[in-house]
Amino acid sequence: MLYIRGLTYHPPASNLAILANVSLELPAQQMGLIIGRSGSGKSTLLQILSGLAEQNQGQIYWREQSLDPEYLQQLAGLVFQFPERHFCAGTILEELRLGHPEIGSDQVSQALIEVGLEHLPLNTAPHALSGGQQRRLALAVQLIRQPQLLLLDEPTAGLDWSMRRQLVNLLAKLKQHWTLLVVTHDMVDMVEIADRYWTLDQGILQAFEPSPVAEVEVSG
Ligand SMILES: Nc1ncnc2c1ncn2[C@@H]1O[C@H](COP(=O)(O)OP(=O)(O)O)[C@@H](O)[C@H]1O
Ligand SMILES: [Mg+2]
Repeated sequence: MLYIRGLTYHPPASNLAILANVSLELPAQQMGLIIGRSGSGKSTLLQILSGLAEQNQGQIYWREQSLDPEYLQQLAGLVFQFPERHFCAGTILEELRLGHPEIGSDQVSQALIEVGLEHLPLNTAPHALSGGQQRRLALAVQLIRQPQLLLLDEPTAGLDWSMRRQLVNLLAKLKQHWTLLVVTHDMVDMVEIADRYWTLDQGILQAFEPSPVAEVEVSG
């Protein structure tokens, strides 16, 4: 279970707090979905949860353990928005082992099976993959480190309809083993597989229960 209590992030450069007193609870093996328009603070929240930035106030707990940024870097795996732009290795194998030369071939195969890319030769260039396959590889790059918590920033952005469907199906499957927190400005894809929902508006997080009417309004 992930607990966030009273988390506030207010860098000196900003007039207003970017995240204001954010609290949430997300049980293990569930998917939480945070919906907010551009600039609402979604990516900033994921950066804090992955230990890349530190809050001014508030606590983050995993079970009963309070987490500092160093611990969060181990516990959480962040898949950035447009993760394929951050690929820097020449082959799938190198991309998966980047910074972790100790990773063995069993872990490599397991991570690729997990995301449905086990059929690809390991010397395939990441840039030669389709858009959907690149997103899967970016997920495998995080899963191979066995994080407890998987954080996804706009995972379906820029994908066509069928690739989005495939990715949503994959996330529904991953939820059986991992705890997922997804942030998005477009809830349509993920709403059916999420377990808990919040909206984020100018750094203020509120619980939200999507109704069938709300879904029709958004997709229409
Ligand atoms: N270190 C920072 N200093 C000042 N402003 C920041 C900083 N980081 C993010 N912001 C601002 O915080 C707001 C939220 O940004 P972001 O988390 O990227 O939103 P989202 O991912 O929802 O689009 C934006 O207005 C952004 O310009
Ligand atoms: Mg963002």
